[in-house]
Amino acid sequence: MAYYRADLARVHHLGFGFHADLCAPGILKLLEPVRDRGGVVVEMGCGSGLLTRHLLDAGHRVIATDASPAMLTLARQYVPDAEAIEQVVLPDDALPPGDAVVSVGHVLNYLPDEGSLRRGLVAAARAVRPGGILALDICDLEWARVRRAWPDRGWVSRDWALVTRFAVPTPDRFVREMAIFSRNEDGSWRRDDERHDNILVDTSALPEILAEEGIEGSVGVSFGQETLPPGLRVILGHRPADYFDLK
Ligand SMILES: C[S@@+](CC[C@H](N)C(=O)[O-])C[C@H]1O[C@@H](n2cnc3c(N)ncnc32)[C@H](O)[C@@H]1O
Repeated sequence: MAYYRADLARVHHLGFGFHADLCAPGILKLLEPVRDRGGVVVEMGCGSGLLTRHLLDAGHRVIATDASPAMLTLARQYVPDAEAIEQVVLPDDALPPGDAVVSVGHVLNYLPDEGSLRRGLVAAARAVRPGGILALDICDLEWARVRRAWPDRGWVSRDWALVTRFAVPTPDRFVREMAIFSRNEDGSWRRDDERHDNILVDTSALPEILAEEGIEGSVGVSFGQETLPPGLRVILGHRPADYFDLK
């Protein structure tokens, strides 16, 4: 698995929960009808379970999925009350069916190219049951346009540190090169390195893909009242309750 080995997964869990916290109120509001009928929420790219925790605390039944074994190990500790925690590697693995499919943290942008991203979106759409909801965030081409000149950045905590270099090699690529430092039990430090390549897309083209899968979808800038970072879009969709009757 290329992304989120153990040390970066832990740093993400400890230091980067703010995005799931920001998105949670809007997502919880969208999902109220699903909870009220006892539906199942499938989370795509759940990471360590930061959004999952909000969903479970609000009374949802959740199946949490991710590709990274290290993230899944953390999720099993942090959200043991999930209905299931499963490895699903997009775009080839099928997601379990749900009454809602949700995702935060631009999970689809981690796929290697636009074709894979589209297949990942199709996998998400196909998992939505009739009457169900789709809600996910995704980086548009604008993500790179506004970050072309981003300086290197570091974060330091008592027992971890992260140094990141950003690059925009082409208009549809955003690269993070990360050096991850973690304190060992004996006080010494170890280092790991990860490079994350994100593919960026014109998100206005995505509702058409959803329509082919029977999902009525739109692209917006938030799940609810929150203000998301520039270039991050939200796809909201639903599958009509009578979808299979119509086919
Ligand atoms: C930025 S993290 C967001 C994690 C979590 N949703 C959150 O907000 O804290 C992106 C997540 O996408 C997952 N991911 C990357 N590539 C994936 C793939 N091909 N299939 C499924 N998940 C993937 C990573 O393992 C990671 O957990």
